[in-house]
Amino acid sequence: MLVLSLLFSTLLSEVCPQTVPEQAQFVDQRGFNALKTVPPPSVSNLTSIFLPPGLSEDDALAKPFHVYDEAFYDIIGTNPTLTVIGSTGGDPLFHEAVVWYPPTDEVFFVQNAGAAAAGTGLNKSNVILKISLDQAAAVSSQRNASGQVEVIAVNATPTVINSNGATNYRGEIIFTGEGQGPDIAPSLFVMNSVEPYNTTVLLNNYFGRQFNSLNDVAINPRNGDVYFTDTLYGYLQDFRPSPALPNMVYRLNPSTGAVTVVADGFELPNGITFSPNGSYAYVTDTGAQYALYGYNFTAPASIYRYVVEPDGTWSNRKIFSYVSPGIPDGIHCDTNGNVYSGVGDGVHVWNPSGTLLGKIFVGMTSANFNFAGKGRMVICAETQLYYVTLAAEGAVVASEMPSS
Ligand SMILES: *[C@@H]1O[C@H](CO)[C@@H](O)[C@H](O)[C@H]1NC(C)=O
Ligand SMILES: *[C@@H]1O[C@H](CO)[C@@H](O)[C@H](O)[C@H]1NC(C)=O
Ligand SMILES: *[C@@H]1O[C@H](CO)[C@@H](O)[C@H](O)[C@H]1NC(C)=O
Ligand SMILES: *[C@@H]1O[C@H](CO)[C@@H](O)[C@H](O)[C@H]1NC(C)=O
Ligand SMILES: *[C@@H]1O[C@H](CO)[C@@H](O)[C@H](O)[C@H]1NC(C)=O
Ligand SMILES: *[C@@H]1O[C@H](CO)[C@@H](O)[C@H](O)[C@H]1NC(C)=O
Repeated sequence: MLVLSLLFSTLLSEVCPQTVPEQAQFVDQRGFNALKTVPPPSVSNLTSIFLPPGLSEDDALAKPFHVYDEAFYDIIGTNPTLTVIGSTGGDPLFHEAVVWYPPTDEVFFVQNAGAAAAGTGLNKSNVILKISLDQAAAVSSQRNASGQVEVIAVNATPTVINSNGATNYRGEIIFTGEGQGPDIAPSLFVMNSVEPYNTTVLLNNYFGRQFNSLNDVAINPRNGDVYFTDTLYGYLQDFRPSPALPNMVYRLNPSTGAVTVVADGFELPNGITFSPNGSYAYVTDTGAQYALYGYNFTAPASIYRYVVEPDGTWSNRKIFSYVSPGIPDGIHCDTNGNVYSGVGDGVHVWNPSGTLLGKIFVGMTSANFNFAGKGRMVICAETQLYYVTLAAEGAVVASEMPSS
């Protein structure tokens, strides 16, 4: 094993003259293009973490910034760091809806709604939590600083029920709520980002009909409209009735209240984001993961890209990436239009042509994450919360754009 990894790193230093940062390693993809044996789907499939030959899981975790393309060096910079800043025994507290609120330099996120270990779903709503980035930055030289960063519950009033996705919205935060049982409809909630965290329901129906379970939301920086995905996870996690609408992507024009549909034809539309200038929309389809009903390996675990037309409608759907391992859940862009998504082993990064540039490898499902401006990122991996420093900067969020 030692010989193998020595051989591996020698090989790597030959192909890669660049100084490799301490927490990074180069992965030569030619090294696994032709494996000695390729295991059958019962052994190697969507749920199994693949490591290139010669790389143990410990090696992979020890240097978690995996460089698949030289362009990744510019994204991570000379000294990227990855730090555990929270961990729970089993409660999936660190799930999705990761949002940076610049005025207080806090990052908000939510607990998994509907996971058995969370006891949420039908019985109680999940909780919104936050951390202070000052505290995270103070421990970034450590690899595991769990317990040293305060994770604070946010008492939204009235409650944001079963929140799953979120983004900045006109100085406040907009959450997608998945609903609860047959009588509490999935809703878009707006929450004041500071105390008393008062909330207002912005939308809870489509011409009187309940959505299935709202999942994620993004604001187009060009027109300021609210685009959101509706999908089946409330039903697939047993806390919503049978769906009564197709799974689609909707658009709310907050000035007129008009709700329109911009895309359909998904299995399970999930994460949504826009390129920095709003000319592309990205939507993840996690159709391969049916929650309590298991996996379907031939269904999408895919990211689709659309052109956003000047009038805000979408055209030219094309596949951007089929991810492996796992499913692509949360999705965000950096200021250069590179695309990041939380998948089965961490966060993957692609250039705008869909070429994998690198991974931030945490060895477990990372449903969502977000930038906190320039050089900082927070990753939610269910029972583990991570703080990342790197060179890249998150695409500007709509609330910071001049209002039109
Ligand atoms: C997928 O692979 C894992 C091992 O990584 C195995 O435990 C599981 O049974 C496989 N799933 C199916 C449906 O074959
Ligand atoms: C609700 O709680 C009951 C009793 O604690 C439990 O049996 C049931 O599985 C829970 N339901 C959900 C959807 O979490
Ligand atoms: C970080 O440390 C805590 C104990 O302090 C442990 O429970 C947790 O599993 C560790 N996390 C990782 C990813 O190693
Ligand atoms: C919260 O309350 C303030 C003060 O009344 C109000 O200006 C703001 O619009 C409210 N925000 C939400 C999201 O309800
Ligand atoms: C938006 O950015 C893309 C490149 O990401 C560029 O091709 C396009 O011209 C830009 N559109 C506008 C309206 O600036
Ligand atoms: C799995 O997904 C594919 C593609 O979406 C679909 O055609 C097939 O019916 C699904 N299989 C099952 C068992 O649901």
